[in-house]
Amino acid sequence: MAFRLFEGKEHAAVYQKFRFPPPEEIKNTVLKNVSFPHVLAVDIGCGTGQVSRSLAPHFEKIIGVDISEAQLEEARKETNLTNVKYIKCHAEDLPADDGSVDLITAAHAAHWFDKEKFLKEANRVLKPGGCMALFGFTTEIDFSFPGVNPGRLTDIFEEVRQFINTYSHEEK
Ligand SMILES: C[S@@+](CC[C@H](N)C(=O)[O-])C[C@H]1O[C@@H](n2cnc3c(N)ncnc32)[C@H](O)[C@@H]1O
Repeated sequence: MAFRLFEGKEHAAVYQKFRFPPPEEIKNTVLKNVSFPHVLAVDIGCGTGQVSRSLAPHFEKIIGVDISEAQLEEARKETNLTNVKYIKCHAEDLPADDGSVDLITAAHAAHWFDKEKFLKEANRVLKPGGCMALFGFTTEIDFSFPGVNPGRLTDIFEEVRQFINTYSHEEK
């Protein structure tokens, strides 16, 4: 089931105005884990596009996807970058060929997705050895995937969350 809390135009405009881009440290940590060449990145739940735009200097092409047209409209207003495109679609049904994506990002968004369908779709579109970076302030997310020990993905996410928390402001 998709959660539709980001549909309002006014909400999207405020989001664009006040949402800050990802810290350089997080972006650099993610990029260190992406093999070359950096061809295609897909930023899922891109909202008004802060992460999509930040990836523009590093990839030939970035596709920002979101289920909210209002968020995407704001994202499109913000950029004249020719290598960033925004498409309305679900995280669980991505507009990318099998094995074509070098990096998937989802910033402050993966907790909204249907985890099982999303992970299957991510597995379909990622290149072998491709990188998936899910980050955000959200506290607890459970992941499961066929053939992976129950809790293993959740443990990995929790480990990353603890690491990212070290960059948080003290007033969490
Ligand atoms: C908290 S916002 C984060 C936006 C942006 N990534 C950022 O860091 O500012 C979460 C976004 O995920 C989108 N979203 C929620 N569920 C989704 C789904 N199933 N597929 C695609 N986008 C989704 C929402 O519309 C919203 O724009």
